[in-house]
Amino acid sequence: MNTSEFLFITKDKAIDSASFTWQTPSNIALVKYWGKSDPQIPKNASISFTLNNCHTTTKINFSKINKVEKADFELYFEGKKKDDFKPKIAKFFERIQEYCPYILEYKMEIHSENSFPHSSGIASSASGMSAIAMCLLSLEKELSPEITTEHFNKKASFLARLGSGSASRSIEGPLVVWGEHPEIKGSSDLFGVKFPYKVHPIFEDYQDAILLVDKGEKQVSSTVGHNLMHDHPYAENRFKQANENLSKLSKILQSGDMKQFINLVESEALTLHAMMLTSNPYFILMKPNTLEIINQIWKYREENDSNICFTLDAGANVHVLYPASEKEAINQFIKNTLAAYCQKNQYICDKSGYGAKIL
Ligand code: DP6
Repeated sequence: MNTSEFLFITKDKAIDSASFTWQTPSNIALVKYWGKSDPQIPKNASISFTLNNCHTTTKINFSKINKVEKADFELYFEGKKKDDFKPKIAKFFERIQEYCPYILEYKMEIHSENSFPHSSGIASSASGMSAIAMCLLSLEKELSPEITTEHFNKKASFLARLGSGSASRSIEGPLVVWGEHPEIKGSSDLFGVKFPYKVHPIFEDYQDAILLVDKGEKQVSSTVGHNLMHDHPYAENRFKQANENLSKLSKILQSGDMKQFINLVESEALTLHAMMLTSNPYFILMKPNTLEIINQIWKYREENDSNICFTLDAGANVHVLYPASEKEAINQFIKNTLAAYCQKNQYICDKSGYGAKIL
């Protein structure tokens, strides 16, 4: 795999200190990434809607020091020093120092906060890692002003992937593909690309209400989860199916066939959980209320001839997906019926968005 385009070669300027703040979103996969090999190479291609309201804001203050062996950084989360997140970020810096050698010449003070409630079960690694990657690229651009916006975003996605696979899909929006796929022009295992074809207007401003069924710590970390796909009896077929689903979804996104969209997206969510039910060790990540919500969504869809559907992450929360044209009616349905199945009636209304923003 050729990663040479991501090496840092030039350094035109000397910068003593700098500070950048980026806001980057979370994303929700329609075709799921579940299974990877080293270094963070996905076993199949995936696609997600970039979200708009669920995001991480990260500021990094860089101050020049004599070159060190290991990245020198402090981490503050929501104003407080957070040493338990440090090992994951230290590992990330170690992985990327080959591509960003300049990080060893700065002390980095990282200040991060999420727009969504702490331990809501919403994956923060996608938004968290992509925000750090964007701040690093901002420093890189100061050091080498000639880099293009295209290279900036591509390298940020490349770096973010090395922190968390799904983070590679959080730089741009509203639809991003990560993983090489013969029918998606420009796609790569190394970074995410914007879905390259014209999307049917029904998918514009697509709504995602995240129902917080279980806000506890994740029962299965993503590292453990992806590892379950090694020696999994159904893994090879699953990877094949995911790539086929992406071919189908690519056509559906262009044609706007909602019946097919709903069928494919819900099947992907249930298959992700089926992989966990059938791995060893095995996990049931849905809760009784997850199933109640799914049944209510199906009933509503039937009775109202609606295009509502759901997807799931590797947890009990339910993402309710619907076109903007049904926003009012479905928001009422969520408030009146589905909220009762959420912890403390909590849910977050979000929608597709356009990716990272500098502040
Ligand atoms: C179920 O990106 O969290 O959300 O690469 O180990 O950080 P790591 O995994 P991560 O896995 C996300 C899995 C998923 C599906 C998806 O987002 O595609």
